[in-house]
Amino acid sequence: MTKYLITSALPYINGIKHLGNLVGSMLPADVYARFLRQKGEEVLYICATDEHGTPAELAALEKNQDVETFCTEQHEIQKDIYKRFHLSFDHFGRSSSSQNTELTQHFCKKLMENGFIEERTIKQVYSVDDGRFLPDRYIVGTCPHCGYEAARGDQCENCTRVLDPTDLINPRSAVSGSSNLEIKDSKHLFLKLPALESKLSAFIDEHEAEWPLVVTSIARKWLKEGLRERCITRDLKWGIPVPKEGFEGKVFYVWFDAPIEYIGSTAEWAEQDPDHRDWKSWWYESKDVRYVEFMAKDNIPFHTIMFPATLLASGEPWKKVDYIKGFNWLTFYGGKFSTSQKRGIFTNQALDEFQPDYWRYWLMANAPESADSSFTFSSFAATINKDLNDVLGNFVNRVLKMTASKIGSEVPAGGEWTAVEDEFVQTLQNRIADYTKYLSELEFRKALVELRAIWVEGNNYLTAAAPWTVIKENKDQAAMILRLALNVIRLYAVLSAPVIPETAERILKLLDLNANDLAWPAQNLAEELQKLQPGHKFNVPEQPLFQKITPEVVADLCQRYGGNPDE
Ligand code: 2FM
Ligand code: ZN
Repeated sequence: MTKYLITSALPYINGIKHLGNLVGSMLPADVYARFLRQKGEEVLYICATDEHGTPAELAALEKNQDVETFCTEQHEIQKDIYKRFHLSFDHFGRSSSSQNTELTQHFCKKLMENGFIEERTIKQVYSVDDGRFLPDRYIVGTCPHCGYEAARGDQCENCTRVLDPTDLINPRSAVSGSSNLEIKDSKHLFLKLPALESKLSAFIDEHEAEWPLVVTSIARKWLKEGLRERCITRDLKWGIPVPKEGFEGKVFYVWFDAPIEYIGSTAEWAEQDPDHRDWKSWWYESKDVRYVEFMAKDNIPFHTIMFPATLLASGEPWKKVDYIKGFNWLTFYGGKFSTSQKRGIFTNQALDEFQPDYWRYWLMANAPESADSSFTFSSFAATINKDLNDVLGNFVNRVLKMTASKIGSEVPAGGEWTAVEDEFVQTLQNRIADYTKYLSELEFRKALVELRAIWVEGNNYLTAAAPWTVIKENKDQAAMILRLALNVIRLYAVLSAPVIPETAERILKLLDLNANDLAWPAQNLAEELQKLQPGHKFNVPEQPLFQKITPEVVADLCQRYGGNPDE
């Protein structure tokens, strides 16, 4: 039997992520993992914080913390936010773990043994006052082309010309401002990607037909432009040490060790319960595993070229990705979410404003799948008000209240299905088949359209069957309608659980059912819709499941987060 390994791109440690980060990797991965688990599949969903690299060092410096303390603190902060969003990782690890260190060093040694690593000496800028080498973008100076005074060593933001740090006039350190800079020789390791070109090309060919276009087109572009040797080491203190003589004090480039942490984090997971968990069975000679990765498009080259290159060059039977789900960008009113300019809404702020399911629902319904999509508070409010309040919430509240007030708080007995019920159940069955198909194909927007349509069918049925009228003449018939509707509520909880798990749990509790009993509906829906038997007790919610978001609230949100209430 196939088992599913799921990873979402590892969020950088240097700060709380915004909604775009969430919908571009972790949230859809979670929806998919939950769906598969509900179908009874064996799933392992792995993620971690991506803790190395200069941005982490500098963020720590800014907070006056040593980088290890900073990372430990930030890891806990992010982990807590994801927990509150109900992201159901089997493990949320850290790329600075000992497991990742060991694996990354192992890969490097294998790659050296197999002749895929080349040593080169390159010229690097050293800041005497900072006591460190500076990556290109941490050297600033005057652009030789346009005179812009704050051009970075890799590119001038003003005229967009690509630069070399040595081109800059009056170069200085972006860390301290010091201009006491020297050019020093430094030895580095390069991954010989050109030597792997044919293998990588064959790897992409193998998946071309199945993978989304955004993924294969980016991979092809890289291959077409010709692969170059890539430097995989850095002159930094923070990172995984390079296990080679003469490389003391150097570490791996963050993008070399980050994807290896998918394996590392699995090893961390296994170590927590070594008697029952075996990380190698997921990653090594693992023919029974289907491996699915989730990421935003800027990460695609690293996952289609760099990481597979590492795995292929090792010559060992490591599991390689079977399917890559790539995402475009979520924008904030058409522009970039920006941490530095405080534009957009961050994951912690989002949770301070509304329950997680509001966000989960809007984000998945508007996931930037085939193109970018834009977040606006008006769209958010409209979706929550219409779909969650008017359609799902209304159905649940109506049925529970009416049954309790007209008949009592137990599932009522009596009556027989008529042609109306048969037709309703058939419609549901067809729609559920489509919904299931879209989720299996990771077509999230289509899946959510179908989920909403499934909810709408419930309201349509109530309107057609009109139990409030029927009850006046035929109590048995009304009991049958409401019994079916109560069963439909249970079904809705199960079907909605991948997307809005907190709501699903609340509904199942109202129905006095085990909130973990989420088995995906069987083919035969008629049977599914008789699970709640006459006499089963239920509760009426004290408060409606959802609350409407008023125009005043939208205006207030726009003011605080920088949106336009008219858009
Ligand atoms: O772009 C990013 O946010 C990276 N931290 C993603 C890393 S994914 C993986 F390879 F670790
Ligand atoms: Zn310039």
